[in-house]
Amino acid sequence: MRILLTGGAGYIGSHTLLELLKKGHDLCVTETFANSSPEALRRVEALAGRSFRVETADVCDTARMTDILRDFRPEAVVHFAGLKAVGEGEAEPLRYYATNVGGTVSLLSAMDAAGCRKVVFSSSATVYGDPAYLPYDESHPLAPTSVYGRSKRMAEQVITDWARATPGASGVLLRYFNPVGAHESGQIGEDPQGIPNNLMPFIAQVAVGRREKLGIFGEDYDTRDGTGERDYLHVTDLARAHIAALSYSPAPGQAEAFNIGTGAGITVREMLTAFSKACGRDLPFEVLPRRPGDLPAYYADPAKARRLLNWQADLGLTEICETTWKWQSQNPTGYRS
Ligand code: WQD
Repeated sequence: MRILLTGGAGYIGSHTLLELLKKGHDLCVTETFANSSPEALRRVEALAGRSFRVETADVCDTARMTDILRDFRPEAVVHFAGLKAVGEGEAEPLRYYATNVGGTVSLLSAMDAAGCRKVVFSSSATVYGDPAYLPYDESHPLAPTSVYGRSKRMAEQVITDWARATPGASGVLLRYFNPVGAHESGQIGEDPQGIPNNLMPFIAQVAVGRREKLGIFGEDYDTRDGTGERDYLHVTDLARAHIAALSYSPAPGQAEAFNIGTGAGITVREMLTAFSKACGRDLPFEVLPRRPGDLPAYYADPAKARRLLNWQADLGLTEICETTWKWQSQNPTGYRS
């Protein structure tokens, strides 16, 4: 297939790009490189032993995206490009809605102009909000509690309405749980700019000496050990979920949502212990107050993805920690040498 990835140099995008290249697909990546590095693409090309097209373009630039889509003629688009920092979204709501929602509208308009009718969308479990029950299944109420979460839900709705109104169109909405880990080579991985918001890159930077110690945001939650519990999913498993989604055909005019998670929760302390084992030393931490907006625990019911996409997570906590440590120890400053 001819497939276009928006944001294909990012953490999830680069790992998905690699898996698609290995499957023999023809790829085009659009990027602004605002929150990613061209070095990631150079490494993916070396790992895959195959090249691909790269175009510098903002999804919000409809004319530019239309030109690229008309020229490359993809059969499907995987839409990764967007903003994803929960706290930043609260401070800059208009930028988040313009990029995550407006960017999706712009992309779909360009796809219409180019006759491309299939989109796979990078959504998030954050669209569910406070759990009415756990594990989350795809029928769980959608009540996001952050600007970021609402922007993802709105983008899902845009895709749903586009699919219904556009003959032959379809959408697959992948609701990621917590992506972590790195490619087994250690050559590509998560490389957040500035102080990491997320747990795993912060732990990895403590392990490699870039951060002094981990702050554990609360140990008084109603979980096994009092620390927050999440469904951590290896990024290579997540990449393979996109390949499964590209092969899946929703009913015409439909956009279908899937939880992409392992179905199991891991606490902060359990993750810290597992990472200490992978890097071979105990890691310093301090317990801090809860982070505002954090949920105590959430994890996926991944049965629908298993049933309809024939996908399930294969990699576990050991692979998550070992690959993250390999990436971070080989690249202490990420892609910036
Ligand atoms: C995980 C756990 C924290 C950092 C967010 C977004 C979600 C998705 C993934 C984009 C929590 C604890 C964290 C730290 C800590 N992003 N923690 N110390 O908040 O579950 O999800 O990122 O799609 O949409 O909401 O991930 O990694 O920030 O936190 O104790 O320095 O680790 O309290 O329990 P989160 P996270």
